[in-house]
Amino acid sequence: MQHIELKYLLLIALQFLVVALLCRAEAQTEIHVPQTVAFPDLYEVSIAELQDGLQNRHFTGVDLVKAYFARIEEVNLRGPTLRAIIETNPNALAQAAVLDNERILKGPRSPLHGIPILVKDTIATMHSEGMNTTAGSFALLDSVVPRDAGVVAKLRASGAIILGKASLSEWGEYRGKNVPSGFSARGGQSSSPYVPLGDPSGSSSGSGIATAIGLAAGSLGSETDGSIILPCNNNNLVGIKPTVGLTSRAGVIPISVHQDSVGPMCRSVADAAAILTVIAGKDPLDDYTLVQPPTVPDYSKALNKTALKGARLGVPRALFARENQNIVAAFNASLETIHQLGATIVDPAEFPDTAELEASNNETVVMLADLKVDLATYIAGLVEVPTGVKTLADLIAFNVAHADEELVPPFWTDQSIFIASENTTQDQAYFDALAADKDLGQTRGIDATLKKFNLDAIIIPSYVASGPAAIAGYPVITVPLGFQPTSVALSPAEPIRTMGPNMPFGIAFVGTAFSEFQLISFAFAYEQATHNRLKQLAYTAAIPNTQLKDVVGH
Ligand SMILES: *[C@@H]1O[C@H](CO)[C@@H](O)[C@H](O)[C@H]1NC(C)=O
Ligand SMILES: *[C@@H]1O[C@H](CO)[C@@H](O)[C@H](O)[C@H]1NC(C)=O
Ligand SMILES: *[C@@H]1O[C@H](CO)[C@@H](O)[C@H](O)[C@H]1NC(C)=O
Ligand SMILES: *[C@@H]1O[C@H](CO)[C@@H](O)[C@H](O)[C@H]1NC(C)=O
Ligand SMILES: *[C@@H]1O[C@H](CO)[C@@H](O)[C@H](O)[C@H]1NC(C)=O
Repeated sequence: MQHIELKYLLLIALQFLVVALLCRAEAQTEIHVPQTVAFPDLYEVSIAELQDGLQNRHFTGVDLVKAYFARIEEVNLRGPTLRAIIETNPNALAQAAVLDNERILKGPRSPLHGIPILVKDTIATMHSEGMNTTAGSFALLDSVVPRDAGVVAKLRASGAIILGKASLSEWGEYRGKNVPSGFSARGGQSSSPYVPLGDPSGSSSGSGIATAIGLAAGSLGSETDGSIILPCNNNNLVGIKPTVGLTSRAGVIPISVHQDSVGPMCRSVADAAAILTVIAGKDPLDDYTLVQPPTVPDYSKALNKTALKGARLGVPRALFARENQNIVAAFNASLETIHQLGATIVDPAEFPDTAELEASNNETVVMLADLKVDLATYIAGLVEVPTGVKTLADLIAFNVAHADEELVPPFWTDQSIFIASENTTQDQAYFDALAADKDLGQTRGIDATLKKFNLDAIIIPSYVASGPAAIAGYPVITVPLGFQPTSVALSPAEPIRTMGPNMPFGIAFVGTAFSEFQLISFAFAYEQATHNRLKQLAYTAAIPNTQLKDVVGH
């Protein structure tokens, strides 16, 4: 890995040389923005619009990084103190300059060239660049990762800029069951931009908060069961939890090798499709990725406004009938919209194994036993760990020894999941639970439902969408659906509010393994017909003021 870092340094040196050589050229190719150019609003701008502005030289990647840094500055630790970002990339501006010049010389590498993206703090970024990878814990501070995570390497190869590390629920919300979503020892308690001190959900909380208000062009999250879909639900975003094995988990701090998946969290289906197209694909360092179909589709080709015409979609009512009635009512209304777009709605289309799914504790058995093994494997792969932790037992002891930072009263003291996980072994009961999950989630669950009702996909409110797909390893895509009415009571901040006026929620499409292309097409058709996201903005103080006009030419 030293070899790789050296190579990287040489590359940086070479790129600076190119920048220096281009200085004169630069003077002649200065940005001249015609008076008529209106910069896109960074709150909502799409990746395609940004790419267009970069390509037409209305602004540069450097401008974009400066603008996003200023927006982060406004709301992260000041003002509404949303705590969405733990670290920004100290090399982002230099990298943007190199990529800007490469664009002049050779054109863009991909639709993501020069586009600033945030990644969850579970996703490794090369140590030489200066950022830490810690899952929000002081236990991994200053640890040296061997290389970029597989998905980060793919982002960089596409010309994307890693803008920073997003906050999260510490350890993927799998430290203690009573730790609120969005808290990590390093990041503090993050909150929603839609409800002051509102629940951002998790565990990819910061990726959700930041993308919702335009602190970056988009972000990556990771999900074991709900960690992409739920923060997208709560932060009014589109999120894709890919089939386990479509995107590499190499270099991603794990919970369970059987369920973890990395995916995009974006403001639109088109943005999510653009990012997924880049991060999907095989990675020799994650053998789950080797069994995916031979070629990664260009998911932007799935953006078909009429895709719902002739589709058959099923509603597994029993899984959510008793949930929040405002959400169920909005979901019911959306079925009418989807029907008008030409789809056949099969309602109800119950999972044949609903009762067993609800009674099953198999997922917990698997996740608890995997966490202990998979975390130790991740740490063993690090080049250096200054705190000396090696195992889950070490992490538990570290938290006790650093209770003032990690087990902070009154809300954040719990590490019961760690303790329960430490008490597991991968015994026969574990292997039985693993087999039961495959059977319950795939064979007698999602696949049985699709087959029984002859469906193309399942539709369900997003906040209950992740469970069966999690144990199956199957894909889910969520799209904004609506907002809690202003009449709902604002729940107390303990320390975050679980409910309040304007709290967003989404609708999800669930399918079989590697059905992302089709799910994206359905989600796009629904999004284009409804444009629900902009029906409610974040609360005023949570919307940063800085725009491109404030940085271009300054
Ligand atoms: C990473 O952590 C080290 C140790 O606390 C700190 O000095 C460094 O600034 C951190 N990196 C960033 C980009 O914040
Ligand atoms: C869009 O979807 C519709 C309905 O499935 C299909 O008939 C049409 O061929 C699709 N268009 C493209 C460009 O794929
Ligand atoms: C939603 O639709 C289902 C099925 O038609 C119905 O039973 C239920 O009462 C509806 N719920 C709400 C809140 O509208
Ligand atoms: C796992 O699922 C099977 C099938 O539903 C069930 O019989 C078994 O009791 C479950 N085990 C646990 C630990 O929940
Ligand atoms: C540890 O596991 C054993 C066997 O499964 C169980 O009986 C015991 O209650 C567990 N202890 C804790 C602290 O979870």
